[in-house]
Amino acid sequence: MSGDAELRLGIIGIGKVGLTHLAALKSLKDTGLLNIEINAVSDSDIGKSKEAAKEFNVPSVYDDHIDLINDANVDIVYICTPTSKHTDMVKEAARANKAIFCVKPIAHSCPQVRDLNAVALASSVPTSAGLVLRYDPFLLYAKRLIEKNDFGKPLLANIRDDQHFPLEQEEYSQWRSDTSVPGGGILLHQGIQDIDVLSWFFGDIVNVYAQVGFYSESGVEDQASLIMRHEDGTTSTINLVWHWLERPNERKIEFFFEKGLIEIILESGSTHLDYHIRGEEPVRINSENTEQVLLEHLDLSSDNLALDIHETLSNAGINKQLALNYSFLKAIQSGETPYPSFQEAVLAHKIVDAAYESSNKQTPIDIL
Ligand SMILES: NC(=O)c1ccc[n+]([C@@H]2O[C@H](COP(=O)([O-])OP(=O)(O)OC[C@H]3O[C@@H](n4cnc5c(N)ncnc54)[C@H](O)[C@@H]3O)[C@@H](O)[C@H]2O)c1
Repeated sequence: MSGDAELRLGIIGIGKVGLTHLAALKSLKDTGLLNIEINAVSDSDIGKSKEAAKEFNVPSVYDDHIDLINDANVDIVYICTPTSKHTDMVKEAARANKAIFCVKPIAHSCPQVRDLNAVALASSVPTSAGLVLRYDPFLLYAKRLIEKNDFGKPLLANIRDDQHFPLEQEEYSQWRSDTSVPGGGILLHQGIQDIDVLSWFFGDIVNVYAQVGFYSESGVEDQASLIMRHEDGTTSTINLVWHWLERPNERKIEFFFEKGLIEIILESGSTHLDYHIRGEEPVRINSENTEQVLLEHLDLSSDNLALDIHETLSNAGINKQLALNYSFLKAIQSGETPYPSFQEAVLAHKIVDAAYESSNKQTPIDIL
């Protein structure tokens, strides 16, 4: 695809996540950085797609997703539907030779995701997995800190990820209460991002031991604890819980090294990063310090961008969703492999599956 060719999109599933992507894509389009046209939306609830089409000025509305996939004005398909629907939609989009963005989790199990990755590769269509934390500005800041400072060997990485029980929140969707649709609970839906972050920072996971708990009547796990070993010998742990407390969702990330510590709080409304290098004063980093790192990561810093575009981008509120979408679409435009693609999702799903197996068998599982 040539540099300024039109990127013609269609979005299936106009729920919470679909709307988030629509808004991010609209902001991106408004910056003028990419020539984006959102040409079609589809939702089984036609009212939702009609409303979104009106708000975002989208010309075509379909109640059957297959019509969107076959629309000649759509080259890139976003799949933002409940999890059990992804498999058929990915296969249909690949068959129609359309580039595919699919939210995480891609499917219920690793073999299914591997199959979808193979289908996409066989059709030579680019894929993107919604592993959006790879574009979190605080995590990118942490990456840069580690690259630029001598933190020494990693000793322990821990992520505690807590959320209010989804089914009790009004804004959560009823499909989550039928276990055959989500296919899993907090481990599959939330933990997959934490697993992906830890592999990104510390390399492939080679062994996992997990305990998965079912405290509610929902039929899917609402607690999971994982102990993992990475290829470089680092030990990492993840503790996940859905609870009933009145508190904002929060991810607390702690990376202990021989010579320093990085702590990051995400999503709680008091998002920040603290780091402490041995022998130096602790430092706190807030969001105003991280935007520049994200822009540089995307090659969009003021050094290589016209000032007016840089300003429009900053005003649009550069965030991880916008960054993920920009990176995916830019890769399509330049003929590169998007990152993270279904390939990275396969690896994360492999660990999720191993964690379920470990808990069922009450034994650590080697990742082959
Ligand atoms: N960070 C992330 O990437 C992230 C965060 C939350 C949820 N998710 C995932 O995103 C997906 C959607 O979650 P959500 O919270 O937006 O759910 P939602 O219920 O808010 O939205 C899903 C939408 O899909 C529509 N839909 C259902 N079946 C359809 C079909 N066959 N064709 C067209 N539309 C259909 C529904 O009517 C609804 O509007 C899930 O797989 C979820 O696990 C990803």
